[in-house]
Amino acid sequence: VLNDHFSHAEHSEEAIISETEMISVTDLTGPQEGQADKSFKLEAAKKMVQLSSGVEFEAWTFNGQFPGPELVVQEGDLVEIKLVNKDIEAGVTIHWHGVDVPNAEDGVAGMTQNAVRPGETYTYRFIVEETGSHWYHSHQVSSVQVQKGLFGAFTILPKEDKGEVIDHSMELVTFAHEFQSGRDIVTTLGLLDTLEHHEVAPGTKVRLRLMNSSSNTKHYVLHGVPYTVVAIDGYDLHEPEEFSGKMLPIGGGGRYDVVFTMPDSTVSLGINKDSYTNTMAGIVFSSGGQGDFTLGDDRTIFDPYSYGSPLEGALSEFTSFDRQFTMVLDMFYIGFYNGKIGATWAINGEVFPNVPTFMVQEGDVVKTTVVNRTFADHPMHLHGHHIHVLSRNGKSLTGSPLVLDTLLVKPGETYEYAFVANNPGLWMDHCHNLEHAALGMSMHLAYS
Ligand code: C2O
Ligand code: CU
Repeated sequence: VLNDHFSHAEHSEEAIISETEMISVTDLTGPQEGQADKSFKLEAAKKMVQLSSGVEFEAWTFNGQFPGPELVVQEGDLVEIKLVNKDIEAGVTIHWHGVDVPNAEDGVAGMTQNAVRPGETYTYRFIVEETGSHWYHSHQVSSVQVQKGLFGAFTILPKEDKGEVIDHSMELVTFAHEFQSGRDIVTTLGLLDTLEHHEVAPGTKVRLRLMNSSSNTKHYVLHGVPYTVVAIDGYDLHEPEEFSGKMLPIGGGGRYDVVFTMPDSTVSLGINKDSYTNTMAGIVFSSGGQGDFTLGDDRTIFDPYSYGSPLEGALSEFTSFDRQFTMVLDMFYIGFYNGKIGATWAINGEVFPNVPTFMVQEGDVVKTTVVNRTFADHPMHLHGHHIHVLSRNGKSLTGSPLVLDTLLVKPGETYEYAFVANNPGLWMDHCHNLEHAALGMSMHLAYS
């Protein structure tokens, strides 16, 4: 067995509330007027899950599925999601990662709402604008709850084909995930069904929505076919080109969309930890029979910053700034426990909640410089906003300008990015290695 596969996962039809089921509207904080275009119900509950290898573990599921159901909506939809917590003692919330919702809908426990306790419900309601591959996950004790399974794909389809959207006749979401089973950490590539082998007819245009729901960077590798990275963090790239045999580095919380045309031979998709280690988990696409999993030995790492065509004027609104901030990512040893070196992960020399908040005003154009002084990757995620990456290590970025919600900052790197303060509220900005976030690498952005 190459790897474990999530079972019990189905598509979102399961999650759609039947028309006769009533939603209580007393806890609504989003747009209260109007009939929702899409309504979902997500029930958080513990459930024993069995993987294809036979490993059993107690997952924390949405609607009994691990990961939770893929929610598919369309740009412009008014979406309503009723969260029900059956039996997760610490309480649950849902954060819409990559979707710039109004602050009150952002699902951060203890900040934008209280955690929803067992037996309680909470309704989220917002209009979706950001097309593309996003995800949702609990934001209460998230380093534990996401790992245990309280997450799923949140796919926002464009209203109409804008010409940039490449059609595809088959679409799959995969999650690189890590979870604890007994004393082991199991790394797995999850697909929204139970098969290790996917039957795909030759000639089919396949779109893979690759997500990393683990805390550590994973390198996705596709072998046996040329492919095109068409979007990163749900945002379409400008005139991307096809290539072969490169590893796609996706930080925790990040997403890449990849398109390929199925050949009449086998295609393998794997995940590696880095360019030195071997594949940790994989799946096979074949046009008949089982097909063999094979990977080439190409170890080139894809560089998203020198890919796609330069887009004229893309960064033109970011030539002068109302505020500038610096975020220095650091770590401090705090002694030994359990035979391990204990560490805290810090921003600007402080550990959450002592990291000073970035205060801005609505309408500000904000520039942030982020510096990684540690030996670890930090995928930095700003809630409620999209960031435009201006430079890396002092070099301004001339390729397809990246618009991200999660910026992978590797050891020693420095990035400058900009965003417009156009969504007032109290927002989290944290490392999406959720263990790092829990150990201090978190802070706030605030404005009213
Ligand atoms: Cu995807 Cu604050 O998280
Ligand atoms: Cu980190």
